[in-house]
Amino acid sequence: MKNSRAKWSSTAKNMNVTKIIPVSLGRRSYDVTVGLDLLDDVGSRLAALRPERFSNVGIVTDSHVGPLYAAALLASVRKAGLAATVVEFPAGEQNKNLTTYASLAERLLALRPAIDRRSLLMGLGGGVVGDMAGFLAATLLRGIDFVNVPTTLLADVDASTGGKTGVDSQAGKNLIGAFHQPRAVLVDATLLKSLPTEQLVSGLGECVKHAIIRDQAALDFLEQHASALLSADGATLAEVIARNVAIKAAIVSADERESGTRALLNFGHTIGHAVETAGGYGAVSHGQAVALGMVAACRIALRRGLITAEHEARVTRTLALLHLPTRWADLPALPSQAKDAATLKGIMLHDKKALAGVVRFVLPVGLGDAALFADVNTEEVDAALAVLQG
Ligand SMILES: NC(=O)c1ccc[n+]([C@@H]2O[C@H](COP(=O)([O-])OP(=O)(O)OC[C@H]3O[C@@H](n4cnc5c(N)ncnc54)[C@H](O)[C@@H]3O)[C@@H](O)[C@H]2O)c1
Repeated sequence: MKNSRAKWSSTAKNMNVTKIIPVSLGRRSYDVTVGLDLLDDVGSRLAALRPERFSNVGIVTDSHVGPLYAAALLASVRKAGLAATVVEFPAGEQNKNLTTYASLAERLLALRPAIDRRSLLMGLGGGVVGDMAGFLAATLLRGIDFVNVPTTLLADVDASTGGKTGVDSQAGKNLIGAFHQPRAVLVDATLLKSLPTEQLVSGLGECVKHAIIRDQAALDFLEQHASALLSADGATLAEVIARNVAIKAAIVSADERESGTRALLNFGHTIGHAVETAGGYGAVSHGQAVALGMVAACRIALRRGLITAEHEARVTRTLALLHLPTRWADLPALPSQAKDAATLKGIMLHDKKALAGVVRFVLPVGLGDAALFADVNTEEVDAALAVLQG
C-alpha cells in the first residue's frame, strides 16, 4: 500500500514491538506511535518532541477516562520535568458542544500566565475528548500544540489522526470546528482493556471499513483474529491499530482537507449517519450504524457489478464474526423510525454530504478499493435498504 512507511522499533521497557507510522503533511508531519504500556513513557516522548520544551501541559479528559488514566499520564509528564494540569468534563457525545468548550477554555485560560503560546494541550480519551481537546488547541491563543492520547479503538484507528477537530451544534454533528493537526499521536493499546465491549465492537466497525476501502489483507487479519480482538488481546489489537492507522495516514497524507480521496472514509456513512440520526444518538453505536451502512452500500456495488456476490458475503461474514449487525433484526431495540426507508432517505437528502439533492455514496470496487459515486438513484437506495430486512 502506498505510503505505509511504517518503522519498527523495540522499546527498552518491554519486549513488545512499538510501531511508528508517519503522517506526511510537509511542515505539519507527525508520527503516530502504536504499542503497549506506553503511558509511562509519554512524558519523555513529549520532551523529545520539542527541544526548547513546552512551557506547560494541559491534559483534557472526560469523567470516565480521567479517573482511570489521568494520574498515570500526569505523573509521566511531570517525571519528564514538565508542569501539567488536568481538566475534566462529563463524558458523552451530548457534552461535545460549545457550552463545554467555553467552560474548558475559561478553565485553561484562568491558568495564565502558566498557559501560553508555548503550552501543549493533550487529549486523553475517546473521539469526543480528542475532537474537543483538538478544537481547544486550534483556537486557544490562536492555536497551540496538541498531542492525542486516544483511549477507544475508534479514536485509535480513526478520530485521533487527521486533524479534524470540533464540536456539535444544535444544527448537527461536527458542524463547528477546525483542521488542526496534532504534533504526535500516542496509541497505547493496553488502555483498551477497560473499554466497554460495545465500544470495542464499534471501533472494529471502522477497522472493517478501512480494510474494505484500502487493504484486503487487513480484512483477512480481522477475520482470522476475531476472537482475540473481541477479548481485547493487547498485541492483536496493537497490530490491527497499526495497520488501520497506516491506512488512515496514507489517505490523510494524500488529501488533508477532504477534497478527494479522504471522502472514501465515509464508506458506510451515508446510510449509517441516517440510521444514527433517525434512531436518536445512543440508540445505536457509530460502528453498528456504519456496519449496516456498509452492508447496504455493498448491495448497490453488487448491482452495479463493482463487487461479486462472494465479496458481499465476505463483508457480511466478517462483520458478523466481529459481533457487528448486518440486518435490522440484529438490533431488536432499534426504534422503528430508524429502520423506516422514507425517514432514512429524507435524512440522507439533508446530510451535509448530499449535493443539490443527490445522495452520494462511497462504494467498494472489489475488496481493498473504493470510489465515490454521485449518481446513486432512489431505486438503488431502496434495494440497499431492503437488504437490511434480511
Ligand atoms: N476527528 C475525527 O476525524 C473523527 C473521526 C471519527 C469520529 N470522530 C468523533 O469521535 C466521537 C466518537 O468517539 P468514541 O467512539 O471514541 O466515543 P467517546 O469518546 O464518547 O468514548 C466512548 C465512551 O467510552 C469511554 N471511554 C473512553 N475510553 C475508555 C477506556 N479506555 N476505558 C473505559 N471507558 C472509556 C468514554 O468516556 C465514553 O463514555 C464522535 O464525536 C465522532 O464525531 C471524530
